[in-house]
Amino acid sequence: MPESPLELLDQIEASALSALGAVEAEDSLEAWRVAHLGRSSPLMGVFDRLGGLPKEERPAIGRRANEVKRLLESALAERAALLRQQALERTLLGERLDVTLPGRARPRGRLHISNQTLRQIYRIFAEMGFQVYRSRDVETDEYNFQLLNFPPHHPAREMQDSYYIDTGTERGDNPVLLRTHTSPGQIRAMRELAALNPDNPPAVRLILPGMCYRYEQISARYEIQFTQVEGLAIGEHITFGDLKGTINDFGRRVFGQGVRTRFRASHFPFTEPSAEVDFECFLCNGAGCPVCKYTGWLEIMGCGMVHPVVLQNGGYDPARYTGFAFGMGPERLTMLRHRIEDIRYFWANDLRFLEQF
Ligand code: DAH
Repeated sequence: MPESPLELLDQIEASALSALGAVEAEDSLEAWRVAHLGRSSPLMGVFDRLGGLPKEERPAIGRRANEVKRLLESALAERAALLRQQALERTLLGERLDVTLPGRARPRGRLHISNQTLRQIYRIFAEMGFQVYRSRDVETDEYNFQLLNFPPHHPAREMQDSYYIDTGTERGDNPVLLRTHTSPGQIRAMRELAALNPDNPPAVRLILPGMCYRYEQISARYEIQFTQVEGLAIGEHITFGDLKGTINDFGRRVFGQGVRTRFRASHFPFTEPSAEVDFECFLCNGAGCPVCKYTGWLEIMGCGMVHPVVLQNGGYDPARYTGFAFGMGPERLTMLRHRIEDIRYFWANDLRFLEQF
């Protein structure tokens, strides 16, 4: 035991300071404060006992006790500041951020080149008043062929070897298949519109885009899936002149103002008369080059006046309505414009190809 209260105070001071020096974490400081400056600390015990001391000793011991208290309080504040500073330095060091490092670029997604072409086609036809109509990929023989004037066993079916779907039921002449072209959408659209007002079906201005499927020997030119864009316009006085005007305008907007077009007689069961449309080669301006195979012309689409049987099947009276239709393959357009040599690149999902567009 210390001899006197003053010695006790010296001891309290010394041991409190040495304990404070050992506190390393900011949140341990409170425990130290309670132990050395709190209500039941030895120091407070000295204050409590002051009243019981001989009167002449009290001022000196009281003064010294107050001094020790202030000293410990300021030592605590200093230690707290020091620990806070050290903690800050540790986080600064640990979370160091080098703002001069180059950023990590996020790879940006983009539209597939086929969708880019499709959207350009939508824009052009939208300006001419054509809306997009989406029709189903899985069709019946009836819609894909029969209603389009291809009866069963018609030789024109030869061109469109089909993927038939086994539905588990005998469907006779009307099997289910993946559409081989977007043309069945013509019948679906006409029927939907005609149903709105069967006595006076509304005029039609539509493009019908979508994936088509054929059982092809896959090669650089043929794929088993490809997109098509079909066009359909029906009204009361539509002529072949309207068809030519629409297609010529389309050609100018895709290939440039001066481009010439050529309509060659052709055959499709669902149009009469029918034509193939060639655009003057945009690369050589008709002089002949490898892209146009030295003909000066690029074969771009099939078209014609909607066959009366097809109008009838769609619910449009052929005595009153006429119309035109066309169909093209956007991949072919893209291949010509970007000189892509192999159609298989489109769906092979190789980023080295896709990222070029
Ligand atoms: N459906 C035809 C095909 O896939 C393309 C076609 C030609 C569509 C003439 C038409 C058209 O609408 O009038 O070969």
